[in-house]
Amino acid sequence: MKKIKEDIINIGVYDYEVDLFEGQYLVPNGISYNSYLVVDEQITILDSVDNRFAQEWLSNIEKILQDKSPDYLIIQHMEPDHSGSIHDFIQKYPSTKVVSNTKVFTMMNQFFDIKEPINQLIVRDGETLHTGKHIFTFLFAPMVHWPEVMVTYDSHSKTLFSADAFGTFGIYPEDAVIQVADWVQEAARYYFGIVAKYGLQVQALLKKVAPLDLEIICSIHGPTLTHSLTDFIHLYDTWSTYTNEKEGVVIAYASAYGHTEKAANFLATILQEKGCPSVILHDVARCDSSLAIANAFRYSTVVFASITYNMSISPFMNTFIHSLVERNFQNKLIGLIENGSWAPCANKIMKYLLENSKKTTWLQNQVCIHSALNGMTKKTIHQLADEIIDKMTKNQLL
Ligand code: FEO
Repeated sequence: MKKIKEDIINIGVYDYEVDLFEGQYLVPNGISYNSYLVVDEQITILDSVDNRFAQEWLSNIEKILQDKSPDYLIIQHMEPDHSGSIHDFIQKYPSTKVVSNTKVFTMMNQFFDIKEPINQLIVRDGETLHTGKHIFTFLFAPMVHWPEVMVTYDSHSKTLFSADAFGTFGIYPEDAVIQVADWVQEAARYYFGIVAKYGLQVQALLKKVAPLDLEIICSIHGPTLTHSLTDFIHLYDTWSTYTNEKEGVVIAYASAYGHTEKAANFLATILQEKGCPSVILHDVARCDSSLAIANAFRYSTVVFASITYNMSISPFMNTFIHSLVERNFQNKLIGLIENGSWAPCANKIMKYLLENSKKTTWLQNQVCIHSALNGMTKKTIHQLADEIIDKMTKNQLL
């Protein structure tokens, strides 16, 4: 448990056990499920934790309140990593008012077979709850990241309880003062993995948050943010408008016997020699896909390099491109490299898969390798690198 302020305590839990968050994202540094207890004339708790940690969470509440019951449980999001212990809570504290919107209560009945009556307090967008000095205002944030999501602003402590927004994978030292550099990689993996599709909805939330007098952001995953809040908000604005955060080239490749990988490495070396600010290689068959997805969104240029396979592309490249497109991949400079020993067609397929991505610029020098690099294909890769550098120079990026 960690005190955020004298009267705000994070009573959440740390999960070092989960192998794949949401059944798909690697979390080698674990993940936290944050829940907050706010002490005032009336006691308020915000959100719960994954059900595997229900007893630890309830025991955290008991350590603070002893025999007392909380007055309110605010539910901001019904995804089970946060809502999984609600039923256990209601059974232990039947008199506590459960505060949320109608969509939350609908989902609550879908997730749990709750026999006992729930002491509900239904709120609407912009309504407030007074618990003494603390005044909580509920701001609905549909699709950040589910339709029922709302965030909560406490004007007394100037705290935004931001639900999934500003959340990160990873477990951070409790006393660390978190700057953007400490947060950005795990936050980007979280954002682009889980929320990126909903840029418009994140923009709508940022507009609601903009007028607030803000000193603290308490997400339901990751550290409490207390310093340089404008920097975190600026990054969320960049990401949710699909603006490229950094200049550089991501080379995502899928190889069978190493020849396509050699071509990817060859391009990377030339780009580095020519002064490209960042070159990042991802073997999409083996890398952490959430990191590759995040980098493809964060950097200005992506080169896709794939073998031809079953008259299509590598299944790993197919999944990777699909993962980008379904998240509204856009605003990129894109290059293509294909390899095929008798009928190469990967460039055509990759272009087809990406053709509905908005505001894309295709690099003209597409590379076609027949089995292995040779003098001719090396020359084409040089031309591709020159074109990338030329575009960056013209855009005054170098
Ligand atoms: Fe961390 Fe959308 O739940």
